Amino acid sequence: MLAFLAMFEPGDRIAIASPGYPPYRNVLTALGCEPVPIEVTAATRFAIDPGTLRAVHRGQPLKGLLVASPANPTGTMMTADALAALVRAAEGEGIAVISDEIYHGLDYAFPAQTALNVSANAVVINSFSKYFCMTGWRIGWMVVPETLIRPIERLQQNLAISVPTLSQVAAEAAFDGCDEMEAVKHGYEVNRRILMEGLPRVGFDRFLPVDGAFYLYADVSRFCGDSLDFARRMLEETGVAATPGADFDPVHGRRFIRFCYAGAAADVGEAVERLGAWLKNG
Ligand SMILES: Cc1ncc(COP(=O)(O)O)c(C=O)c1O
Repeated sequence: MLAFLAMFEPGDRIAIASPGYPPYRNVLTALGCEPVPIEVTAATRFAIDPGTLRAVHRGQPLKGLLVASPANPTGTMMTADALAALVRAAEGEGIAVISDEIYHGLDYAFPAQTALNVSANAVVINSFSKYFCMTGWRIGWMVVPETLIRPIERLQQNLAISVPTLSQVAAEAAFDGCDEMEAVKHGYEVNRRILMEGLPRVGFDRFLPVDGAFYLYADVSRFCGDSLDFARRMLEETGVAATPGADFDPVHGRRFIRFCYAGAAADVGEAVERLGAWLKNG
């Protein structure tokens, strides 16, 4: 919200990936900006590519671009080269870049890259919610170019004054807990392997590359016409919860569900077995 308020004006167009994190779309809309969803596919490893960005910008100018790698809901990541090419293409066209790096640290396929490796003007968003497991503490941070520091400070002082003191103290202490965080990350890696090997075995054999964060985005269109109904039935009949894709992608989301594997390995294993039995019995 602070980045959007400081960087954009009502009417500005901001490119976002679809599927993507729904609050981007909702918050931009609430602020009077226009989110411009760009459909991502296997052809570009589920990331916005420079050619498409330029084509959209030529059609009607963009003011901003939001990237997230690892991404929610797909769990896919951009390679260092793909991220560098996209950030350079955007800035070459005068499009401001926001990089949501909230899932950094939770990368399994290859190391996540920060947009700051490519540009000192990129605005980076991060949080203690994911790698540091502090979701409820409501604390995060931004890296912004010098010129945005005062405008953002002024907005923050007016919107919330400050993050609660307790959260600030706890977040500082969290930097000393990295061994514990790495153990948690190792648990996610175990869960990821259980899903990547187990889901195809029981019939869920179409999903996007499981690169990072703690999500697996599966195409369930061969089982159902609407993933919202499918997820509801799955929850009622097996006790396994997954998020239907409609909110992440208003166009194709009803073909997908998002599994989250930030749980205990025994539960993830049991979920796979229950799904197998469920699919077998129709
Ligand atoms: C991509 C992405 N950005 C931002 C957030 C917001 O996180 P928080 O408000 O907990 O820092 C989330 C939470 O799921 C997310 O997935």
